[in-house]
Amino acid sequence: MTAIRGKAAVVTGGGSGIGAGLAKELARQGASVAVTDILLANAQKVADQINASGGKAVAIQCDVCDRASINEMRDKAVAAFGAIQLLFANAGATSFDPLMEMSDEDVDWILTVNLHGVMNTTRAFLPGMMEAGEGHVCATASMAGLLPGWIPVHVPYSAAKAGIIGMMMNVALELKPYNIHTTSYCPGGVASGMKANNATYRPAMFGGPGEGEVHVGEVNHEQTSLAFFHPDSVAPMVLDAVLNNRAFVFDHPEQRDLFRETYASVVEECYDAAEAWERDHGRPEANPHGAKLVSGD
Ligand SMILES: NC(=O)c1ccc[n+]([C@@H]2O[C@H](COP(=O)([O-])OP(=O)(O)OC[C@H]3O[C@@H](n4cnc5c(N)ncnc54)[C@H](O)[C@@H]3O)[C@@H](O)[C@H]2O)c1
Repeated sequence: MTAIRGKAAVVTGGGSGIGAGLAKELARQGASVAVTDILLANAQKVADQINASGGKAVAIQCDVCDRASINEMRDKAVAAFGAIQLLFANAGATSFDPLMEMSDEDVDWILTVNLHGVMNTTRAFLPGMMEAGEGHVCATASMAGLLPGWIPVHVPYSAAKAGIIGMMMNVALELKPYNIHTTSYCPGGVASGMKANNATYRPAMFGGPGEGEVHVGEVNHEQTSLAFFHPDSVAPMVLDAVLNNRAFVFDHPEQRDLFRETYASVVEECYDAAEAWERDHGRPEANPHGAKLVSGD
């Protein structure tokens, strides 16, 4: 994307935390913003704040677990602002629970809201962007998706967030000819409403709101000294990545270092082990018919 000013943006999960910060910064930089959230009252507060400070925003209710709700939201956003060039697929929910203490419903919810939510929202907005030959999709993933060994008891969440990163990197290849780019934003610690709100926004299809079923514990490992950034202060960094079509944004310097160290050692270990195996056994044999298995091979 080459500009924010004059563009139309949609932010899912825009009623709180990172999404609210993104919506306000988008408006400050001159975009019209559809602030969407499963909790409409929260989205409305953010939209009111933007409009009161001279920006342009509407609030739209949307549950990203539900394709019909996403399509309805898209239609309302387009009716308000015309073609949407900027999508921030940000809505998400977390859980800090040992995998086998989670109910099937909990697991389905965390995977659906975080992974399918981004997939469904992206698919809803791509046709308009492809037709216009312009667009950017920025998905809020997490450092938990890049460094899944970093936070324990975070299994469905880490899986979903890693999935978002795969999705953004892969779809970028399809979208390049349409002048559409993607960014995976990987927050590492941003003060948000997640802990307070978690019990309030579970969609009815996963049992509805309820207290104490998915726990949002304190981050209690070595990272306790980690600073939690204010969402308003990370938003400009995310928009800068969008403006420069960067594939990733990592907001925490400590985690950028951890990422570098982790992957350097993963790469080294994989190379060493694979090379040692090949020295002893040779390379795996190539299939004579390429990718296709022919019966009798
Ligand atoms: N805060 C962090 O440190 C951190 C770290 C890594 C990733 N993230 C990711 O950032 C994103 C924003 O979270 P946040 O930290 O600002 O928390 P938050 O709770 O303040 O914001 C999440 C918003 O998503 C909305 N939401 C939840 N389920 C929804 C649904 N089904 N449909 C539509 N909206 C829904 C909530 O109502 C809320 O407004 C999430 O994807 C989260 O996983 C946050």
